[in-house]
Amino acid sequence: MKRTIIITGGAGFIGSHVVRLFVNKYPEYKIINLDKLTYAGNLANLKDVEDKPSYKFVKMDICDFDGVYKLMQDEHVDGIIHLAAESHVDRSIKDPFTFAQTNVMGTLSLLQAAKLYWESLPEKWEGKRFYHISTDEVYGALELTHPQGIQPPFSTKASSGKHHLAYGDKFFTEDLKYLPHSPYSAAKAASDHFVRAFHDTYGLPTVVTNCSNNYGPYQFPEKLIPLFINNIRHKKPLPVYGKGENVRDWLYVEDHARAIDLIFHKGKVAETYNIGGFNEWKNIDLIKVLINTVDRLLGRAEGEDLNLITYVTDRAGHDMRYAIDSSKFQKELGWEPSLQFEEGIEKTVRWYLDNQEWMDNVTSGDYQKYYEEMYKGR
Ligand code: NAD
Ligand code: TYD
Repeated sequence: MKRTIIITGGAGFIGSHVVRLFVNKYPEYKIINLDKLTYAGNLANLKDVEDKPSYKFVKMDICDFDGVYKLMQDEHVDGIIHLAAESHVDRSIKDPFTFAQTNVMGTLSLLQAAKLYWESLPEKWEGKRFYHISTDEVYGALELTHPQGIQPPFSTKASSGKHHLAYGDKFFTEDLKYLPHSPYSAAKAASDHFVRAFHDTYGLPTVVTNCSNNYGPYQFPEKLIPLFINNIRHKKPLPVYGKGENVRDWLYVEDHARAIDLIFHKGKVAETYNIGGFNEWKNIDLIKVLINTVDRLLGRAEGEDLNLITYVTDRAGHDMRYAIDSSKFQKELGWEPSLQFEEGIEKTVRWYLDNQEWMDNVTSGDYQKYYEEMYKGR
């Protein structure tokens, strides 16, 4: 079946993997990457698909309701996969307004445009889908009740390798109350509520997923993993917040993109699915894995760069532990993370080391000129 899908935030980290997957897997679809190109948007992430006939880039702010509505009409859009957001917790602490504007008002603008356009068609909601990508951070923080780690109650192919620990006995399930702590997660929580309200009030065919921390190629180097890989390479200090005891559940970004594909096509309308790796790591343990992997791949002595670890003042309101229970999604739709963490980290570190030019472009700010050069006159 031919479809026309807007993917918002397609020039960002996860969005670029989703665009690549859809453009390559569904050449019969038209894929429109709608992105404002903020500091986090980088079209160089999509060099390999930008000339494909079914791919189109549109530089637009999701808050531009008129622009989005017109684009939907002009292109006969029947699906939206919404990833555009301000996504970094530390930035949200400094500038909460931008987070409310983009994450809440931007989502509302997309919802309203989709509602008005689809409602105006004879077939209305039939064959339509509004898929909102959210985060596990909306659930707040879990406690670290088992600092040494315990055997988790579930196991997956991907996490049944060397490291398989849970640092508490509670997990985020879909029925949990929202308790966001940061301006980022508060804004994402508000946007999730709007999406569900548009289903319940107007019947918009929505689906929401809440995913754990992603890692992999093309992540902006303000987030822990790419920032630290780059710092280790250049022997710069590694700023560890607090005691480094906070726990995150890490998922390889391509596994998230596969999950998004599955849910866009097969997920039930009005449903929420949690997506995670069953793969909890304390920050400090993960940082040591990164140091060992970078040192090994660069031919440095084992542990040579451990002295780069620098404990700094903790992040305000720093959530202690995130851990997703994704068994509902796994059982209903048969998804599993494909990679063990050790493999995923090795692939990721290799990618950043092999793509120093990408990293230099991002850290120097040169990547922001890419759009002007590539799209001049188009
Ligand atoms: P990112 O910051 O790398 O990319 C965000 C993209 O959105 C950028 O391309 C940016 O230019 C674009 N954008 C920002 N504001 C916009 C606006 N007003 N209009 C149009 N485009 C705009 O983010 P990411 O890490 O790829 O996250 C993507 C989505 O997934 C977000 O909604 C985030 O909340 C969610 N998520 C992320 C993670 C993670 O670990 N990174 C985990 C779970 C959920
Ligand atoms: P981050 O990648 O910002 O993702 P999130 O805050 O959405 O989980 O951070 C991951 C963890 O690493 C989090 O516990 C904060 C911590 N962290 C540091 O200790 N130092 C850093 O410089 C950064 C960016 C993060």
